[in-house]
Order: sequence, then structure tokens, then C-alpha cells
Amino acid sequence: MSKDTLTIIDNRTSQEYEIPISDGTIRTRELRNIKVSEDDFGLMGYDPGYMNTASCKSRITYIDGEKGILRYRGYPIEQLAEKRSFLDVAYLLFFGELPDEKSSREWDHQIRKCYQVPDEIRRLIDVFPEHAHPMGMVSSAVSALSSLYPDSRNVEDPENRRMEAIRLIAQVPVISAMVYRRISGLPPVPPNEDLPYSSNFLHMMFDGSFDNDETAQLLEKVLDTLFTLHGDHEQNCSTTTVRGVGSANTDPYLAVASAVAALAGPLHGGANESVLKMLHEIESPDNVRERIEMAKRGEARLMGFGHRVYKNYDPRAKIIKKLAHEIFASIGTSRLLDIALELERITLSDDYFISRKLYPNVDFYSGLIYEALGFPSNFFTVLFVIGRTPGWVSQWEEMVLDDEQKIARPRQIYLGHDYRDVAD
Ligand code: CMC
Repeated sequence: MSKDTLTIIDNRTSQEYEIPISDGTIRTRELRNIKVSEDDFGLMGYDPGYMNTASCKSRITYIDGEKGILRYRGYPIEQLAEKRSFLDVAYLLFFGELPDEKSSREWDHQIRKCYQVPDEIRRLIDVFPEHAHPMGMVSSAVSALSSLYPDSRNVEDPENRRMEAIRLIAQVPVISAMVYRRISGLPPVPPNEDLPYSSNFLHMMFDGSFDNDETAQLLEKVLDTLFTLHGDHEQNCSTTTVRGVGSANTDPYLAVASAVAALAGPLHGGANESVLKMLHEIESPDNVRERIEMAKRGEARLMGFGHRVYKNYDPRAKIIKKLAHEIFASIGTSRLLDIALELERITLSDDYFISRKLYPNVDFYSGLIYEALGFPSNFFTVLFVIGRTPGWVSQWEEMVLDDEQKIARPRQIYLGHDYRDVAD
């Protein structure tokens, strides 16, 4: 009869061990019982980059990388992007269910009531020079909220946690717009509670120049969808950072500020900025083949290609690609889009990329869209931050409520000197 266990024979001692399997997983803590002697520390798992290590149990986001599936709380990303607003999706991520009409209105109202950031944030953002990179500015400002809302340290209080989640979702776009205005040498535009989430963001960014016209409606729809697509992505680098920092009972502002820092890296959220840089460097569709050969020689990766989890296609990229075509049909095509399409066309039939399962990811198209909408490229990752904030706070909340979670503290394999004395 089959058993949900794993039998391991340690060939060093010929000893046999039986380890329980649950949810297709063994607890690596069990390996510690495998020893060669009483004073042996016991076996550990070595897994740089957490390639095959689950660090938590979660009910938020499901990904099947082989099949190209992404679901939030069981709902396919395609349906959420088409049928619900970003704020409804944020509610779903945090509370676990989609809001009905009444809850959706109340939630929207609560978020709008929290648009106002403390005045100290404006002064803090003013201190940065115009050439400062926006991600460091956003991370600093979110981190400052921790000191300005000292109650946030009380992470045991559920009402407090709900309040901090609302504030983060409401205020991250306000901070982001302030940062944009600062690096553009423009005065900040205060938030307008009469405007819904994405309209308010555009209003603060572009000082009402898009309010009430057709371009504004297209921009709002596109932004809302892009925010939804970025809402959560299970245990990626920045989410693992939120959980890791939060596991020390650190307040959510500091935990999210650390996640912003993680997202800034070019291998993570910073990739959309790098995609644009790469497309500009390529200059013309005629140069695409040479750039691809460089990637194959290992000289420079194709930014916006490949994913740690998606080994078929990135379902977000599929939705974004459609959106990109809608936008370019409305506002005209661009040279960069032509380069991007040529890049995609050649790689999809090139054995190097096929055999390594390297397909365009979400960042490949989002950068193109953001540029077409007039955002500066160093600001792209900030837009990712706005979308991902509900995911971060939901993952943080889930971690706080999980009795099994402990302070993050991986092991290491020590390879340094054994012992040596300092010379007299
Ligand atoms: N261009 C060319 N070759 C690549 C690329 C690429 N973008 N990505 C991976 N490879 C090759 C790599 O050289 C290696 O080849 P070989 O087996 O011959 O050594 C093989 O594919 C496997 O690469 P890996 O580094 O082991 O794969 P990974 O799962 O650790 O890396 C990744 C995933 C996303 C960091 C990587 O694909 C990459 O650097 N992509 C470019 C940056 C990018 O677009 N990042 C955005 C990710 S999506 C947004 C998000 O969710 O954060």
C-alpha cells in the first residue's frame, strides 16, 4: 500500500529514515535527524535562490509556471483584469473575497479618505536632487511613514493592520506622484478625494491636464489593468523580502519600503526600465539579430525575457501585449514597438530561447506602454510598486496571522577559516 512518506537511506551509516510528505513537500527540519554521530549537527538543505524551497503556506496567489496560469484567490488574472477594478482586486487580495457593490463603494471611500500623506513626506521628497532615482525616493518616503504613524508598530492589533494596509494602498500613489513631480522640477499636486484611484493618480502626476478627456479615459483603463496585473506574484524576491523583514514583527511601512528596494533591482521590477534602455540601444529592427547573438554568446541578457517560474508563457505578458496594440492603434505606432516585435518574432523561433523556455515576460511590454503614455523610463518601476503594494500588504498580513511563521533565519554552509589567532 502506498504511504505519504519518503524513505531515505544514509549510505554513510546505512541508517534508514522515514519522512512524512504533506502537500507534496517534506519539512527540511526532518533532515536534521539524519546524522553520522550524536554530536553531528544533522543534514541541511542547500538551496541558493530558494529554487525548490517553500518558505510559507499561502492562500493568495496560485501560479502554474508550466501552464502559464496566474490566479488571485482562485480567480484567473484574465477575468480579473477584464471585469474588475484594481481597487476591487486589492480588496480581494487583502480580504480573500471580491467585494459586493456596497463593500466596493465603502472600500473605495476608505481609500480616498486616506489620500492625504503627512506634510513631512513632501518636505522629505523635496530634499532629494532632481537627478535622484525615484525608487530610492519612494522607498525612503514609505519608510518614513513608519515614524509618522507610530501605531503601526503594534502589529498584533487587527484593526491597526487593516488601517495600515489602507494607508499604504492609498498613499503609495500619492508619494509616487510627488516623486515624479520632484524629479521633473514641478511642484506637487495635492490628491483629490473626488477622483477614483487611477484618475487621482493621473491628476497628481499631470496636474489635471488629462482630466475629463478621451486620453485620460484610455490612460485610466490601461493603468488600472496594469496595476491589477502586477497585484501579486506569490513568493518573488520583493514579497519574500516583505515576509522576511516582517517576520521580525517589523511594521508594514518598513517591510514594504524594503520590498520597494528589492523591486528596484534590474533582475526584478527594474527590468521594464532596462527593456527600454535595451530597445533604444538596438536603435533599429535591422540590429535585432546582432543583439540576439550577443545574448546567446552570454554577453548581455535580453531584458524582458525569461522568468524563474513561467516556463511556457507569462499570462500577464499576453494581456499586456493586447493592451499595447490597443494603445498603439489609438496613439500611433512607435519605432521601439517595431524593434520589440522583431525581437519577439526571432526569439520565438530560435532554439537557444526555445530550449531554455525564455519568453517575453510582463516587463517586456509594460515598459513600451509606459513610454507611450509619457512616463519617464526611470519611473516605470514606481508604477510596478503601486500595483504590487496590495500584494505586499496581503502577504504581510497572512504571515502575521500564520502561527507556523518564525523569524526568517536561513542556515549557511560555512567555508571560511576554521580557527586562527591574531598575530601579536
Ligand atoms: N537572455 C538571455 N539568456 C537568458 C536570459 C535572458 N533574458 N534569461 C536566462 N537566460 C539563460 C541563462 O544564460 C541560462 O543559460 P545557460 O543554461 O546556458 O547557462 C538559462 O537561460 C537559465 O538562466 P537562469 O539565470 O538560471 O534563470 P533564472 O530562472 O535564475 O532567471 C531571470 C530568471 C528572470 C532572472 C532571467 O531570465 C533574467 O535575467 N531575465 C532578464 C531580466 C528580466 O526580464 N527580469 C524580469 C522578470 S519578470 C518580472 C518579475 O516578476 O520580477
